[in-house]
Parts: sequence; C-alpha cells; structure tokens
Amino acid sequence: MLRFLLLTSLAALVLAVPQPWYLEDELGEGRVVGGEVARPNSWPWQVSLQYKSGSYFYHACGGTLIRTGWVLTAAHCIDRSMTWRVVLGEHDINNNEGREQYMNVSQVYVHPNWKSNNIAGGYDIALLRLSTDAVLNNYVQLGVLPPSGQVLSHNHPCYITGWGRTQTGGSLSAQLKQAYLSVVDYQTCSSSGWWGSSVKNTMVCAGGGSDSACQGDSGGPLNCNVNSQWVVHGVTSFVSFFGCNTYQRPTVFTRASAYISWMNSIMG
Ligand SMILES: *[C@@H]1O[C@H](CO)[C@@H](O)[C@H](O)[C@H]1NC(C)=O
Repeated sequence: MLRFLLLTSLAALVLAVPQPWYLEDELGEGRVVGGEVARPNSWPWQVSLQYKSGSYFYHACGGTLIRTGWVLTAAHCIDRSMTWRVVLGEHDINNNEGREQYMNVSQVYVHPNWKSNNIAGGYDIALLRLSTDAVLNNYVQLGVLPPSGQVLSHNHPCYITGWGRTQTGGSLSAQLKQAYLSVVDYQTCSSSGWWGSSVKNTMVCAGGGSDSACQGDSGGPLNCNVNSQWVVHGVTSFVSFFGCNTYQRPTVFTRASAYISWMNSIMG
C-alpha cells in the first residue's frame, strides 16, 4: 500500500500540470475540511445551491447572493442540467430554522468561455437568476464584490465558508463552516513546485501552507477582509487531487474582480 502511494504520487509529480480536483458536492465529496462551525448567519450572503432528485433537494454547491435577484457560483457546479433551487439564510441544511428563503432559479448564465473539460483554463463562473427577489434582513444580505481588477497582496486574510465534512471520509457537517485562509499571490502560486501553469491570473489562490485550513464548497465565496469590510474576492473552484490541504497546492478560486464587467453585462 505504501509502495502504491509512493508510486502514484511520483506519477503525479512527473506530470507537467498538477491535476486539479473539483469541489462540487457530488454525493458528498469536496467539502470544508478543518475550520470551525460558523456563528449562525454570520456570512449572510452565503447560499446553498441545491438540485432536485425525486421529490427532494440536495446540497450541491455554495454560492453568493450579490443582488436580491442574483447568485454568483462556479460554472462547474451547474454543468449538468438539473432543477435547481437556492436557499438563503441557511445555517443547518437538515433543519428549517425559520430564517431560510427558498428560491427558484429561473435562468442560468454560464460564462461563454467555460470549458468543463478544462477547469485550469479558467472562466469557472456562472450567475443564477432567481425567480423572485430575496428579502434582505439580518440573516440574508448581499455579498460585496471588489472593484474591477483589484488584486489582493500575498498573505491577505480571508475566510472560506461552506457546508462540509470535518475530515476526508467523515460525515457531512450540516452546519455552515468557516476556515481561515490567506492569499497566495499569483507569482508564488503559479511557480513551479506550486500550481505552475494550472493557475491563471484570473484566479486567486489561498491557503496551501503547512497549516491545514481547507476549502469551502465549490461555488462558495472567498471572503476577504478589506478595510474592515468583507469582500467576496473569489468563487471556490478547485483543489489538488491529493486533498484540500496539500502542501503548496492552495485552494484555487475564480477571481471575482476579473469578471465584474461580465457580471454587469448579464445583470444589467
Ligand atoms: C418554485 O417552484 C415550485 C414548482 O414550480 C413552486 O411550487 C413554488 O411555489 C416556487 N417557489 C417560489 C418561491 O417561487
């Protein structure tokens, strides 16, 4: 077994391009590992994107409410054609706590350059039009997007949020979790020994040091503290095939500030 592991990781090391791994929750994979349960509704722009199967809805991905009628998520979350709903004001996905708003999705807008067979190519971003507007309150708020083109510097403090497992193969966390991650700048993240050319400058890297902080759900926000305000700088996109806290393989996010004009062109 040890020999097998050594051989497989060696095989990966000789690949020119490290293999990314999606964070979509397909049958419960790709969730927050590490971190801690968030104070209920302390990230009020975080949404649960759910797909319908039979007569039930299941959590698939995270997302961010950016306008009362619009949710930002990752393109790879909605590669399959499904009936979707968005839950706002959620904390415990197994319990109705009375703060949730259940919204239908009337339209899905995937970035036209997204290619589902090439996540390292970028453009892993999509917008969901809600059929009715969210009601903003203490539990449901809009996420703030960065100014177009803004890039955070190395070690900038951020949090990822998502519903997830506490460890690989463990049971799902029904409650929203958060984990601290600091930004790894593009120069470092795209260097050899890190992600190399798999990372583009339209992405943000965070985490990946010797700490074991880990990723949130695909599609969910990278929340960064900028001048004492939480700003959604990233959309969770991919991690290493070898796990979310692999050394020098930070979690990779679609950089929101690279897509402000695309978002505005869709939302008007
Ligand atoms: C969402 O769609 C379902 C099925 O069409 C409908 O029963 C429900 O009332 C809708 N909910 C909202 C909030 O529009």
